[in-house]
Amino acid sequence: MFPVTLARFLALATLLALITVSSVHSAPTGNVTADAFEGLSHEAREILARATPAASHWVAYSDKFLSSAGPPAPSTIKDNARVWASLPESQRSGIKSQYSAAGIKLMVSAFGSSNLPTSGGVDPVATANTMAAWVKKYGLDGIDVDYEDFDAMRAGNGKAEQWLISFTKQLREQLPAGQYIITHAPVAAWFSPKIWGGGGYLKVHSTVGSSIDWFYNQGDSEYTTCEGLLTASSSRWPNSSLFQISASGVPINKLVIGKAATKASAGTGYIPPEILAVCVSQAKGKGWNGGVSYPDAASSWIKTVRGSAFPV
Ligand SMILES: *[C@@H]1O[C@H](CO)[C@@H](O)[C@H](O)[C@H]1NC(C)=O
Ligand SMILES: *[C@@H]1O[C@H](CO)[C@@H](O)[C@H](O)[C@H]1NC(C)=O
Repeated sequence: MFPVTLARFLALATLLALITVSSVHSAPTGNVTADAFEGLSHEAREILARATPAASHWVAYSDKFLSSAGPPAPSTIKDNARVWASLPESQRSGIKSQYSAAGIKLMVSAFGSSNLPTSGGVDPVATANTMAAWVKKYGLDGIDVDYEDFDAMRAGNGKAEQWLISFTKQLREQLPAGQYIITHAPVAAWFSPKIWGGGGYLKVHSTVGSSIDWFYNQGDSEYTTCEGLLTASSSRWPNSSLFQISASGVPINKLVIGKAATKASAGTGYIPPEILAVCVSQAKGKGWNGGVSYPDAASSWIKTVRGSAFPV
């Protein structure tokens, strides 16, 4: 266990913000033109700000907005939390109020694939305190827990789950419900019952799910058809499709479909946007309203995926 410093947290924070439209408002009034998020085109912002049905969440990551096909420049990745913190307070609050007027929440995303807090012996409570203080200090709406300590989860000894539970409890303690959003972005496979010795994310959900505003159901190397994504995952990760996770007790509208928008970043989990639109429409027809997160989408991708089910 080593002390968690602010500098360390900044290193852990892979993204400045995911931007969600929580869409309680029927129409945005603001014109979101802040330019702290380069690459997020005016059109993309407008789409994000457009009215959506209540309780669906359309999530985008500021460090991966693409205005054209192709990977983002490495220099644009991982630095947004730093950039945000380095802005003068007046600029931050100006940007924040424009997003807020448009119904868009700004959150920091923590951890990511290069940070393994459980394996690394990092103290969950101290980390939660540091991160919560950072969220408050820099005026964000909340935090997305993008925990990717696969080794710890695979170990099957419950340490990963316990780490997440302690961390989430403490975060919620510091960032009260109703004022701050706490989300988690687990891979869908972690919801498979009976696979994870410590219970996986079903354990995390049954213990601290009520403290979490919503989860992201991220497709990994499977979930590449509507059936696999929605109703019947593979035998490798059984019962981890959207409606199967819901059948295991996670409220359906907490499940946001996380999908990479480009083949390059998806690896083998890619679903072309036209097909994903069909899946989204099918899911809506079955009562799901959770939303989609798109780590690297351009506005045309977002429009296509929302399709006629959630038109923009
Ligand atoms: C919003 O800002 C854009 C870019 O500055 C501008 O082109 C557009 O006319 C504005 N829209 C409204 C409704 O003010
Ligand atoms: C998957 O869920 C179904 C229905 O609840 C259940 O019958 C089956 O045993 C589950 N399979 C696994 C591997 O958990």
